[in-house]
Amino acid sequence: MAATLVKFLGKIHQGDCVAGLKKVPSESVDLAFADPPFNIGFKYDQYDDQLGDDQYLAWSREWMAELHRVLKNEGTFWLAIGDEYAAELKIEAKNLGFHCRSWVIWYYTFGVNCKKKFTRSHAHLFHFVKDPKNFLFNHDDMDLRVPSARRLVYNDARANPNGRMPDDTCILRPQ
Ligand SMILES: C[S@@+](CC[C@H](N)C(=O)[O-])C[C@H]1O[C@@H](n2cnc3c(N)ncnc32)[C@H](O)[C@@H]1O
Repeated sequence: MAATLVKFLGKIHQGDCVAGLKKVPSESVDLAFADPPFNIGFKYDQYDDQLGDDQYLAWSREWMAELHRVLKNEGTFWLAIGDEYAAELKIEAKNLGFHCRSWVIWYYTFGVNCKKKFTRSHAHLFHFVKDPKNFLFNHDDMDLRVPSARRLVYNDARANPNGRMPDDTCILRPQ
């Protein structure tokens, strides 16, 4: 393993994401997960969560371009984002060379109560890969697979005994 990469492993690196990513060697990362500011005016302590559209999109392009550079060719990038910029960031990612494998909806029931619109209860999780023909996806991992309705409900002998892939809607209910 390249000496430059070893110094990054097994530690949490705190700092600006663009500056930090610039220190990471190209094509060295297997998996990236980003939960960036949604730019919806949340009161965070250290940054402005209400940038102008152009500024937010330019910044998003900047860090996603660095991410694309550091990912291995068979690497994977998950992006969590809210409604406000989901469509825009998906297009930015596509323009940078990412391919969207799944657009997962994460449904939750602990959103901030809204008085004049529907209460926020979902976020978007984009599963991007760099190379649509060469990426790691552990589809036969039994920890990932779920029993099918064909098996559980209908007791159909034709059901795959190994279950099926989970839905692209992920439900989290505290109750
Ligand atoms: C939607 S929150 C993610 C929260 C995180 N997933 C957690 O559970 O704590 C966005 C985070 O991005 C961080 N952030 C904002 N600008 C950043 C930057 N330029 N570089 C690195 N992190 C940044 C904020 O401090 C904030 O914690």
